[in-house]
Amino acid sequence: MNPNLKRYINTQYQEKFNEKPIIVCSPGRINLIGEHTDYNEGFVFPAAIDKGIVTAIEKSQTELCTIYASDLDETLSFSLGDVQPIPNGNWRNFILGVVGELQKLHIEVKPFNMVFGGDLPKGAGLSSSAALENSIVYGLNTLFNLKLSKSQMILISQKAEHNYVGVRCGIMDQYASMFGEEHHALLLDCRSQKATSYKIDFKDYELMLINSNVSHNLVDAEYNDRRLVCEHVAKLLNVPFLRDVNEDMLLQVKSQLSESDYQKALYVVQENQRVIESGKALENNDLQALGGLLYEAHHGAQHQFKISCKELDFLVEETKKHSEILGARMMGGGFGGCTINIIKKSAVTDYSNHISKTYQDTFGINCTIHTVKLSQGTHIIEL
Ligand code: GLA
Repeated sequence: MNPNLKRYINTQYQEKFNEKPIIVCSPGRINLIGEHTDYNEGFVFPAAIDKGIVTAIEKSQTELCTIYASDLDETLSFSLGDVQPIPNGNWRNFILGVVGELQKLHIEVKPFNMVFGGDLPKGAGLSSSAALENSIVYGLNTLFNLKLSKSQMILISQKAEHNYVGVRCGIMDQYASMFGEEHHALLLDCRSQKATSYKIDFKDYELMLINSNVSHNLVDAEYNDRRLVCEHVAKLLNVPFLRDVNEDMLLQVKSQLSESDYQKALYVVQENQRVIESGKALENNDLQALGGLLYEAHHGAQHQFKISCKELDFLVEETKKHSEILGARMMGGGFGGCTINIIKKSAVTDYSNHISKTYQDTFGINCTIHTVKLSQGTHIIEL
């Protein structure tokens, strides 16, 4: 993560609170493939990146916790005796959520101060929220010697999101941000919460993100709705999650489902399969096959699970005209954010120029190109 950002957050903390803080770096994530499969206890293939949230945190000398959101120049002060969600509280609810969830587990936290900032584009689907949640829980764990394991911490982060933010997310984002490894992506089984690491070295190719700059922030209801559909179909089949379902089983209940719900469930079943196949493609160094799976995944997201939007569809379609790109798909929860592309390194500059112009001409807004490095998960740094 950007060294200047780390120094800046550290300095801001010292100026505000006159003390030397602990510094936590917590990355955002990309996802090679596997969307909306995590809360179905299925498979995902994320990686932590070299952009994220930097948090400076230390014990408070008063009874209050004071949190400063550096990028927004906003402050939250609260007492540990009064921790509850704030309607439309935005970032405040990530902080309160983590503290509230710790309190629910009777884990004692004392007053603390915190300054945080980041370099993840907001609303781009790179999981700034999970990065922030993880940075707080990790910081508090260190500060108060709570002895929580990383696995326990990510569950607290996830619960904060469910109960304080109102998004019933799966575990992918928190897992990837916490457990990420340099140069590796993690094929995660969301049931066992065990992952296999895959070294990502695409030789002449690389991963490129194209941010549609359509913010996905206002679609929490759509997200929760997809989850309800999946739960409904699993219930009908008398299994705990869609992870336990195959295409034949789905056909048996097809007549009891609307076409739209059937397609959504089918997407999840097929997407799980695609994640497994992507692992095999990587083992075989078969980037063409991986690219093909990315295109299939986008097709499913667009037509079956219906979580795409015209801008993302355009960004994916356009790549098909360029043989230097092996595959592309929308990434994350959907309705905006980034596409992830496998592109020949030598074509990055030309394609970036081309898509920037074409996208601007079509939608009247800019897209933003990001290249990312796969990086280490949440950790403390010494400055
Ligand atoms: C969001 C959620 C994740 C996951 C993705 C879609 O990022 O936080 O848990 O469901 O959407 O794959």
